[in-house]
Amino acid sequence: MQILRTIEELQNIRKTISTNVGFVPTMGALHDGHISLIKKARTENEIVIVSIFVNPTQFLPGEDLDAYPRKDEADKKICELCKVDYLFMPEISTMYSKEEVLIKAPNKSYILEGLARPGHFDGVLQVVLKLFGITQPTNAYFGKKDAQQLSLILQMVKNLFLPINIIPCEIVREKDGLALSSRNIYLSSEQRKDALLISKSLYSAGALIAKGELNATIVKNKILEIMRPLEIEYVAIVDREFNEIDTIELKNTIILVVARFEKTRLLDNIWI
Ligand code: PAF
Repeated sequence: MQILRTIEELQNIRKTISTNVGFVPTMGALHDGHISLIKKARTENEIVIVSIFVNPTQFLPGEDLDAYPRKDEADKKICELCKVDYLFMPEISTMYSKEEVLIKAPNKSYILEGLARPGHFDGVLQVVLKLFGITQPTNAYFGKKDAQQLSLILQMVKNLFLPINIIPCEIVREKDGLALSSRNIYLSSEQRKDALLISKSLYSAGALIAKGELNATIVKNKILEIMRPLEIEYVAIVDREFNEIDTIELKNTIILVVARFEKTRLLDNIWI
């Protein structure tokens, strides 16, 4: 595995590759969720590139940019074990210049996650577009856990006619159901236990729908009832375009929940 720090190094290597390139963009602190993306990329492409870059433009003032977990040495080992070909780890000054062409995410970036974090998705799309420009992947892998991010990236690729396949990947969970997240390490053991109500509520919603309940309000109330002891930020039932819906449509619905544990926000969802 080669570790690359500059755009020039990666672009020069990229010019010599004429086979499929699978790309997994990350902010590091790799866990089994990232590993599942990398493994999928490994099985589906001749060349695999992973990037680790904690992107400042997607953090709002006062968010956890400085505290965001950084585990470069462990991450390098994980990438090595997963047989990544190239690990791209740029500095902020490598990725950004003083004045930038800005990306404006569409209106649906200002609901749900974007309501709590206005402007967050502008930063996500900006960095993802830069990374796509540098790596020019055939296939790029994103987790379904960040469902709104995934939806906006799909839209960006479509709107900007980028010749890249976006591959949505399943959420990876702990055995007890907690969705993996780099931010789980912020939880106390008590909060970690309480956080299980999130996946429990989604499983119950899934079971209710499997029994034939398609009324979104009834399903939402079930989730709210189970998550009641938590500080709920939102529960939303949307279609794949992120429009709120009244009636659940099979294969076209995502149920999203966010709960807050002091400064830590935990997101989870299920795709129906
Ligand atoms: O999902 C993430 O880890 C980040 O938002 C991404 C896509 C790597 C962009 O910084």
